[in-house]
Amino acid sequence: MKTILVTGATGQIGSELTPALRKRYGNNSVIAAGHRKQPDAELTNTGPYCRLDIEDVAALARIVEYYRIDTIIHLASLLSAVAETDPQRAWSVNINGLFNVLETARKHECSVFFPSSIGAFGPQTPAFDTPQDTIQRPDTLYGIGKVSGELLCDYYHKRYGLDTRGLRFPGLISYKTPPGGGTTDYAVEIFYAAVRRQHYTCYLKPDTQLDMMYMPDAIDAILQLMTADAERLTHRNAFNVTAMSFSPEQLAAQIRQHIPNFKMSYKVDPLRQAIADSWPRHMDDSAARQEWGWQARYDLATLVEDMLEHIAE
Ligand code: SER
Repeated sequence: MKTILVTGATGQIGSELTPALRKRYGNNSVIAAGHRKQPDAELTNTGPYCRLDIEDVAALARIVEYYRIDTIIHLASLLSAVAETDPQRAWSVNINGLFNVLETARKHECSVFFPSSIGAFGPQTPAFDTPQDTIQRPDTLYGIGKVSGELLCDYYHKRYGLDTRGLRFPGLISYKTPPGGGTTDYAVEIFYAAVRRQHYTCYLKPDTQLDMMYMPDAIDAILQLMTADAERLTHRNAFNVTAMSFSPEQLAAQIRQHIPNFKMSYKVDPLRQAIADSWPRHMDDSAARQEWGWQARYDLATLVEDMLEHIAE
C-alpha cells in the first residue's frame, strides 16, 4: 500500500480509517472520496478529497489514474435497513459500485479491500459459532450484495490475480460518525440517548443477540489484513471477525454500571427485527486468528467505558 483511495470516506468506517491511514502512509498518499459536497474539515484539511459517485466508473477511473492509486479501500455502500427501503438503488450502489471498483482495479493493477458483513449470512446459517465456510442464503438485498461481493472478489483474484482482501464485520460501534440505516445502529444510538436523556427506546427485542465490535478494533483489523503476508491467506475475501456478542438488554445493563438511572423501553421495528433474526448470534473467527493473527482489544466492559467517556466530552 503506497497510494490509497478510500471510497465512502465520509461514512462510519471511512471517517476513522482515512485519518489512521494518513497517519501511517502520509497525508498526500491517502485520497478520500465520498458523495458529500462538504465533508468534515478534518478530511479535507489533512489531504486530498474528491467528490465521487461510485456508480460513475469513468470518474472513479480518472481519480485512480490521476493519483496513481495502487490500493482501493472500497467502503461506499448502503446499510441493511436503508437498502431494504430501496432495493433497486441498493443493487446499483452496492453491487454495481463494487463491480466498478474491481474493473478499475483490474485495469490499473490495484489491490482492493471489500467489507463484507454478518449480513452475508441468512436464516439457514448456523447462528452460534457460525463457521467461516457455511451456508449463505441471505434474504435481504444488503446480504445478497455482500455474498455477491465476496464471490466477485474471489473471482477477480482467481481469474486476474488481483490482490483482493476482505472481512465480514459485525455491528460496528463508534462515536465519530453515526452509521445511518443499519440494523445494528441501536448499539450506537443508545449511548447518545443514555448520556443526554438517560432513556432509550430500542427497535430490537431485548434478547436479540448479535456480534459487535468497537471501531478501533475494526480499523486495526483492516490495517492488519491489508499488510498480512499474502501466502498465509486462504480465505482472502470474507474473514469472519468479531469482538463480542450481546443483546440490547445486556448492553443496557452494562451502561447502567455507569449511569444507574438509565432506562430502556422497546418499540420493535418489524423490518429491522426480521433482518437481525436472520443474522448470526456469534461468529467463529478462528480462520482470521490463524491466518493473520486477528485479536480484538475491546470487550463489552471496555467498549462501554470508552464510548461513554468520549460522548460525555
Ligand atoms: N451494521 C450493518 C448493518 O446493520 C451490518 O453490516 O447494516
